[in-house]
Amino acid sequence: MISRVGVGVIGFGTVGTGVARILLENAALIRRRVGVPIELVRIADLDVTRDRGVNLPPGILVNDAKLVLADPGVDIVVELIGGYDFAKRIIVEAIEAGKHVVTANKALLALHGEELFAAAARKGVDLGFEASVGGGIPVIRALTEGLAANAIQSIYGIINGTSNYILSRMTNEGHGFAETLAEAQRAGYAEADPTFDVAGTDSAHKLAVLANLAFGTPINFKELYTEGITHITQHDIAYAQEFGFAIKLLGIAKMVEGEIEARVHPTMLPSDSPLAKIQGVYNAIQLIGDAVGDVVLFGRGAGDMAAGSAVVSDIISSARNLLKGGAGRVPPASFQQDQRRPLRMRPMEEIHSLYYLRFMVLDRPGVLAQIAGALGRCGISISSMLQKGRRAGQTVPIVIKTHTAQERAVQTALREIDRMAFMSEPTTLIRIEGQDE
Ligand code: NDP
Ligand code: HSE
Repeated sequence: MISRVGVGVIGFGTVGTGVARILLENAALIRRRVGVPIELVRIADLDVTRDRGVNLPPGILVNDAKLVLADPGVDIVVELIGGYDFAKRIIVEAIEAGKHVVTANKALLALHGEELFAAAARKGVDLGFEASVGGGIPVIRALTEGLAANAIQSIYGIINGTSNYILSRMTNEGHGFAETLAEAQRAGYAEADPTFDVAGTDSAHKLAVLANLAFGTPINFKELYTEGITHITQHDIAYAQEFGFAIKLLGIAKMVEGEIEARVHPTMLPSDSPLAKIQGVYNAIQLIGDAVGDVVLFGRGAGDMAAGSAVVSDIISSARNLLKGGAGRVPPASFQQDQRRPLRMRPMEEIHSLYYLRFMVLDRPGVLAQIAGALGRCGISISSMLQKGRRAGQTVPIVIKTHTAQERAVQTALREIDRMAFMSEPTTLIRIEGQDE
């Protein structure tokens, strides 16, 4: 008869602090949901002196992860240090020791998820990673359980809180990029290396996890097209608004003719679409299943308590499984390990989209005709065009929106246009979703 479930946390940073606070403050509620107490047995961090604002019972905090792994009172190991090598070692060791594991480490899952999924399935233990995507949004459980009846057709997600926070502040308050990123870092939203957030890498990690679960296929992370928000300017935000769009960093994954299309890039969305309205640190994920149709999940995408909520939900799920002997009931990758299928990842140049193109040109006669000519030769049709003001002999923006075109054709045209003498900088390209033309 199990009378309590012991938890050991490795990493007492932003998320670790949230987890500890929830386990301690909501202990009575969690006990009523699980049936027995969930006991925070150990927390390991390199720094055991810093005040994290959480009142831990004495003797819990240790400075060596091994003390968590070796503790016989720990049934569930929670990895919250981030990074690759050491985090992976902890997880593998815990699984091999027959412990259940919870992690928020999307970077590790995107690159080494296959190995970890296989190890957990082999050992028959739970591997929970609800916090790895969408912060507090229960999207992993939605894919593995709530939507398990569906063939998932597509995923559209704002899945990085930091970049959505930055884009929202730039759009709504006209704030600059660097100051807004610093705010996001102070709030605990950003990764240890914030270039992961703004370069799209974190979104790509999360999209790889979602696509893996949705389509039942390993995702080769290197093949996932990734572009961040660092080149987005106030010009583009203003033009987007004139066209009736908002700019969001989107992760998009689709099943197209038996192949996977997966990409992360800034995207213009019609201002009245659900994802265009998501502001600040909030994330939203739109999943389209063949039976259910559209499902949109929305919530805080980062921060101690949002991510802590997701981690503790995994702890509760494993504790329930421990009590009822149901460990390993839900395969970590959503599909049974032997039922997963390798699928071709469609190269970026094969995708089709609508495009926003901003050309910074010397204002002189004939320039527009040359741009339109190059686009036309590549079979790209223009749907609208904007040029504001006249500044003869100086640099001015020309903005063009295209009808649906193939990426390869657009890139070919831009290579030709970017070599033209009147171009003062490379063309800015932003893909458009949510409009059929
Ligand atoms: P933090 O950097 O705030 O916390 C990590 C903690 O782990 C730090 O206190 C660090 O100590 C400690 N640590 C590092 N190495 C070791 C080690 N070998 N042994 C023990 N402790 C160690 O990161 P977050 O809490 O923000 O992120 C943790 C994980 O959660 C990452 O994988 C992240 O991607 C993910 N995540 C983060 C979210 C967020 O909103 N912040 C949301 C969802 C997921 P020190 O500082 O001294 O190095
Ligand atoms: N840095 C991540 C973000 C944390 O901003 O979304 C949540 O995964």
